[in-house]
Amino acid sequence: MLLNAIRVAVLLALESVMGTIAQSFNVTTPIFWQNTTITTPVTARIKTSENAFQPIFDNLVNQTSNSVEFKDNPPEFSMPGTFFWELALFDYLTNQTTYQDKVQSYFASVAKDNPDFSGQYLDTALVYGYAAMQAHRAYGDPLYLQYAENSWAFGYNWTIKPADVQAGSFPGMNWTIPPQCSVGTLAGGTFWQALGSDNTYINALATGLFCSLRIAC
Ligand SMILES: *[C@@H]1O[C@H](CO)[C@@H](O)[C@H](O)[C@H]1NC(C)=O
Ligand SMILES: *[C@@H]1O[C@H](CO)[C@@H](O)[C@H](O)[C@H]1NC(C)=O
Ligand SMILES: *[C@@H]1O[C@H](CO)[C@@H](O)[C@H](O)[C@H]1NC(C)=O
Ligand SMILES: *[C@@H]1O[C@H](CO)[C@@H](O)[C@H](O)[C@H]1NC(C)=O
Ligand SMILES: *[C@@H]1O[C@H](CO)[C@@H](O)[C@H](O)[C@H]1NC(C)=O
Ligand SMILES: *[C@@H]1O[C@H](CO)[C@@H](O)[C@H](O)[C@H]1NC(C)=O
Repeated sequence: MLLNAIRVAVLLALESVMGTIAQSFNVTTPIFWQNTTITTPVTARIKTSENAFQPIFDNLVNQTSNSVEFKDNPPEFSMPGTFFWELALFDYLTNQTTYQDKVQSYFASVAKDNPDFSGQYLDTALVYGYAAMQAHRAYGDPLYLQYAENSWAFGYNWTIKPADVQAGSFPGMNWTIPPQCSVGTLAGGTFWQALGSDNTYINALATGLFCSLRIAC
């Protein structure tokens, strides 16, 4: 929760640094938001964001040859990936390379023994792919593009294609894909976890992350 609060604080501060971060959602300020006119100078806002990162660095332990973990949630593997993308995004938005070495060293730790970033949940690999995309945009290192492509290839295997919908089946699954669900076709949906042949859990995080990778790669 602390981490999420910090992420929101960092993103809000950054958003005001840059005016508007391009996103696919409706960025019109909702009328019920209060005091949205930010008068704090840009330099102060950047400083606030940097300060917000510090507790997260303090929480990030166990950077070993094959892992990075948060102290308060060691087995959870996707959260560190979300932190890498915030660092890279911060550098990109502020036109700096402050965290370049850190991001590179974190990625190297994780990728050493886990080059496609697979984890307990399928969306974990896609979190790292999305982080790699942000890092590539911020630092231009082609290695990150490779990481993003690896992640894409992984996500592709767990994403329902139009042909699967037409056939009514997905490789390895034993249930019938309906032609339509309540909001439209299931094509483009990405599975959340490799649970077995009766797994029908497709979630927004996996689907959204894979969709961003598909557009970028
Ligand atoms: C975006 O949000 C604003 C404010 O809530 C609303 O007035 C507007 O209709 C929304 N636009 C779309 C395309 O949903
Ligand atoms: C917004 O700013 C006004 C004037 O400074 C203040 O009285 C009010 O408490 C603020 N509202 C919030 C939600 O911070
Ligand atoms: C760090 O990793 C070591 C070895 O895997 C483990 O024994 C230890 O509990 C970890 N520490 C934390 C704080 O997660
Ligand atoms: C970013 O920094 C570089 C090198 O200092 C400069 O050439 C470029 O104009 C800057 N871009 C922005 C968007 O500030
Ligand atoms: C994707 O599936 C193909 C065909 O089953 C397999 O050869 C490939 O190794 C898989 N790729 C990843 C990254 O899982
Ligand atoms: C699908 O496989 C699961 C085991 O993974 C099994 O429990 C279930 O009965 C199977 N369903 C059908 C329709 O074959």
